[in-house]
Amino acid sequence: MQYFIETTPIEKLRCECLVVGVYQDQQLSPAAQGVDKLTGGLLTRLLQRGDIKGKNAETLLIAHSGLDALPRIVLTGFGEAGKVTRKLYRKALAAAAKSVKDSKTPSAVAALLDVETSDGDAQWRARQIVEVFDDAVYQYTATKKVEDTPALQALSVRADAAQATAAGAGVSQGAAIAAGVCLTKQLADLPGNICTPTYLAEQAKSLAADHDKLSCEILEESDMQALGMGAFLAVSRGSRQPAKLISLYYQGGDASVKPIVLIGKGLTFDAGGISLKPGLGMDEMKYDMCGGASVLGLLKMATQLNLKLNIVGLIASSENMPDGDANKPGDILVSMAGKTIEILNTDAEGRLILCDTMTYAKKFNPEVVIDMATLTGACIVALGRVPSGLFSNDDALSEDLLQAAEASCDSLWRMPVWEEYQEQLKSNFADLANIGGPDGGSVTAACFLSRFAEDFRWAHLDIAGTAWRTGVNKGATGRPVPVISQYLLNRAAEQ
Ligand code: BES
Ligand code: MN
Ligand code: ZN
Repeated sequence: MQYFIETTPIEKLRCECLVVGVYQDQQLSPAAQGVDKLTGGLLTRLLQRGDIKGKNAETLLIAHSGLDALPRIVLTGFGEAGKVTRKLYRKALAAAAKSVKDSKTPSAVAALLDVETSDGDAQWRARQIVEVFDDAVYQYTATKKVEDTPALQALSVRADAAQATAAGAGVSQGAAIAAGVCLTKQLADLPGNICTPTYLAEQAKSLAADHDKLSCEILEESDMQALGMGAFLAVSRGSRQPAKLISLYYQGGDASVKPIVLIGKGLTFDAGGISLKPGLGMDEMKYDMCGGASVLGLLKMATQLNLKLNIVGLIASSENMPDGDANKPGDILVSMAGKTIEILNTDAEGRLILCDTMTYAKKFNPEVVIDMATLTGACIVALGRVPSGLFSNDDALSEDLLQAAEASCDSLWRMPVWEEYQEQLKSNFADLANIGGPDGGSVTAACFLSRFAEDFRWAHLDIAGTAWRTGVNKGATGRPVPVISQYLLNRAAEQ
């Protein structure tokens, strides 16, 4: 999709499809009032007839407005005027995007900056328009023919002259974040037999080849062996696909500025290993690489916006499979940090590949380390599929991330990483066990990671419930690319 700014006044505008807003009390937005005048009161008549009330996320497609310049109009309900929160604005946008998509128009203009939101300015609104529309037109095509490829190719955001600069910035940010989200979804939706660790490494190389400020380095299993990554390698033992530790270096800031390190769990398939998962829903474990895909998406976003930051992306990529040579419950391995780990369940593999990657991250002298991982089913039990779990050893970093979550509507909820839980990770035979029993599983997983984060400010996002949708609409969401993009934008603005 291509995104533009449109500053032509409504009276002079020509476009195939125009999207305007209406409120609950049947009050038209300024742009909608303009359309109403041009059509001789058509919108008012439709409102009087009760075709649309203006409730949030209601839409009415006027397929034949009678105007040559504006043949299609999509009226979109935003709910009560003056009470349009950020979330409600986005919800209405999603409904508008669906209506535009269904209308099969190849291009559209969204005149929706004039809908006042209780938080967020014109720049924020412009950005959301792009993000939400891009999400709506996403279509998986890699291994399936779709007759109905989305017709929508171009979207313009209508802005008054006074708003044009802010809207322009919002559209550029939105387009970059949407590109990052889209890449993340495309990779995540691929099946495990295509998207292997080697495939992810190739994707990283090609992303780096496209951008001057981005470079890529791949560590092979032999390199990990030399580094003493016994925990990481234990996971890949049972797989015929070679594991990869993919490093991406984005240098947008001064060489002296400490980098933000982003770590992604990139399990291209998690069968559970010898502690084999049950069959039902096991296909969804192709999504166990969503954290890794998000690292790629975030670096794509950073390059597109030319962010003045230094970012190191580390994708720990492997499969977790049962095999005669696979690691077993009771096995003890030595992590890169020197701590010994007793494997009590081979399905708790994410923390094993992540702990060595976190130890490796120290060499970059990080400002902060943020890992993103589909780490525990227990996180879904605790929080459902609404926020990602946030775990951290640093209150200031947590605050920054929570603020970014608010602004991006990609929500996070902070969970404890308290000393008391560490008890559950005690082992009679090793420095720590890889699981902490059935209670508080997402917390004990985070506690395990925290033992490898003692030397830096660290946050862990458990995205098990948010990285993809299950059920009939199964598909990747691209989360947490929006919230981390917002965090990076905020950091860049401070520079
Ligand atoms: N990748 C899974 C976590 C997961 C499960 C994410 C279901 C989303 C949906 C992870 O590797 C795993 O298997 N975790 C175990 C940990 C347990 C053995 C302590 C889990 O959650 O069951
Ligand atoms: Mn697992
Ligand atoms: Zn896993």
